[in-house]
Amino acid sequence: ADGAQYVPDGADWAALRSASEGCRGCELYRDATQTVFGEGPVPARLMVVGECPGDREDTEGHVFVGPAGRLLNKAFDAAGIDRSKAYLTNAVKHFRFIERGKRRIHQQPRRSEVVACFPWLREEIRVVKPRLVIVLGAVAAKAVLGPSFKLTEHRGEVLDHDGLKVGVTVHPSSVVRAENFTEAFDAFVADLKAVRES
Ligand code: URA
Ligand code: SF4
Repeated sequence: ADGAQYVPDGADWAALRSASEGCRGCELYRDATQTVFGEGPVPARLMVVGECPGDREDTEGHVFVGPAGRLLNKAFDAAGIDRSKAYLTNAVKHFRFIERGKRRIHQQPRRSEVVACFPWLREEIRVVKPRLVIVLGAVAAKAVLGPSFKLTEHRGEVLDHDGLKVGVTVHPSSVVRAENFTEAFDAFVADLKAVRES
């Protein structure tokens, strides 16, 4: 199974979002609280793609509202990107986690889950019609650019992928966790500026 069988044909954004609530295209819907669909203006010139919802996103039902989202807000401010004008989404729409006592620890989605969920992202790209898609981290980059894509070789670049302009950078969570935070933050902001201005 994958998400495709749950995607209505030629639907607008509202119909897509509502259909995504019933998706059972992979196992992840079972343990997660809800589908976290992308949000923002439709259409939008800029689309930003993360990995998958985290604990807070799963509970609240909105993208990038937890620690990674706070970091992203700061980096957008520093790079001169207006979050309210961008459409934000994730490669995978359900939270993947393991339980450790009371805590739910985020797990990177499997390739099979990224593939299963791609029909939703493809439809979001169709309705949002972005001029530029920024992929955050390897999972998002591989979802859009293919499994052999090497993020470290291309960060800060804009690639042309089947007519879609794709800007590449790291995931904000990697900046949150970085040993040298200031250096990682500055490099992230530099990537965002470089891809935005291309
Ligand atoms: N990390 C992501 O990739 N997306 C979110 O929405 C939150 C955290
Ligand atoms: Fe469907 Fe994606 Fe959720 Fe899997 S992660 S159930 S494909 S919406």
